[in-house]
Amino acid sequence: MSKSVPHGGKLINRFNPEYPIDFLRNDIEIDSLELSDLELIANGAYSPLEGFMGKADYESVVSEMRLANGLPWSLPITLAVTEQKAAEIEIGEIVHLVDHDQIYGVMEVTEKYSPNKVTEAAMVYQTTDMAHPGVKKLFERPAVYLGGPVTLIQRPEKRQFSDFYLDPVDTRQKFAEFGWNTVVGFQTRNPVHRAHEYIQKSALEIVDGLFLNPLVGETKADDIPGEIRMKSYQVLLDHYYPKDRVFLSVFPAAMRYAGPREAIFHALVRKNYGCTHFIVGRDHAGVGNYYGTYDAQQIFSHFTEEELGIKPLFFEHSFYCKKCENMASEKTCPHGREFHLILSGTKVRGMLANGEQPPKEFSRPEVIEILIQGMKEIYTKN
Ligand code: ADX
Repeated sequence: MSKSVPHGGKLINRFNPEYPIDFLRNDIEIDSLELSDLELIANGAYSPLEGFMGKADYESVVSEMRLANGLPWSLPITLAVTEQKAAEIEIGEIVHLVDHDQIYGVMEVTEKYSPNKVTEAAMVYQTTDMAHPGVKKLFERPAVYLGGPVTLIQRPEKRQFSDFYLDPVDTRQKFAEFGWNTVVGFQTRNPVHRAHEYIQKSALEIVDGLFLNPLVGETKADDIPGEIRMKSYQVLLDHYYPKDRVFLSVFPAAMRYAGPREAIFHALVRKNYGCTHFIVGRDHAGVGNYYGTYDAQQIFSHFTEEELGIKPLFFEHSFYCKKCENMASEKTCPHGREFHLILSGTKVRGMLANGEQPPKEFSRPEVIEILIQGMKEIYTKN
């Protein structure tokens, strides 16, 4: 087993395909965010959570970034229903969790409560601006939260890249088989460009293995779809990474775009997958101009490394320097900004959408080829 201990001490397992469901009378319709959370609670990625949060955990997470028992936890994991639906359900009742007529799980409803969404938005997203995709989603959800333990009965469908869905228990097993004592986790919702590659490889210089763990749950409409990204990661790894030091599998969570708070969450979850280290670069999990470039790094100082149980590795904004003829950051490059090619996923997306070919200093040609092809297929489909 890898040297990292799951958050709270043990991996949670709430998956039971044999669970008897015929006697239950109430269904709750869940959306894709809640379905992905259900799966990630059940497979232990969200350990120590065993269900959707009750009021005490929710309020403590929103105001203190800790569960009610004091453990660090930065994002509310909640199930929202309408007031009418909430009124139909009795406390203690076990209900089906349903999406598109499929029963994916059950929940024992131990609590019903009404969140203060303005407070939640201001604390978690640091803004109440409805133009923020996470805030918009929060306010669109129904008004009542239900708390209680869940059991997953059926796994959500895995689509094209089914081989890359591994549970924390499996990734831990893999890392142990590889003999990796130290593993750095990398979160991404973008194709891997040269700045990502630079910080990943800088981290690989000091740890045994890299866990490339792209998020493939719900993202904003203009983010590049998971299917295309997965192809681009595979071609990149084939050409530019040492095979025995990188492991790729997906993180099926929804993106919240909560910047600093989401960076803590991303780190804790990767600890559950078996990572000992976690990369946080510039504007991690950010969107628009809501967060400062290094806010997602500074937030880690709210916690001791011991209570987080995973070591964040911080990287400065990296770029290609035409004078150095290399990737660099302000820490390593003496040349002026006029020599710097600033890279970002947003920029790659923009160029691809305009039919432009991003230069090789920006993204590896093999990756660009996959992205251009993938984007073409999307446009011809639509
Ligand atoms: S994220 O929403 O998943 O954080 P993205 O896929 O762009 O978005 O970033 C993945 C990781 O790479 C994050 O830790 C982010 O901070 C980091 N990162 C992205 N671009 C750069 C860059 N140019 N320099 C340094 N770090 C970067």
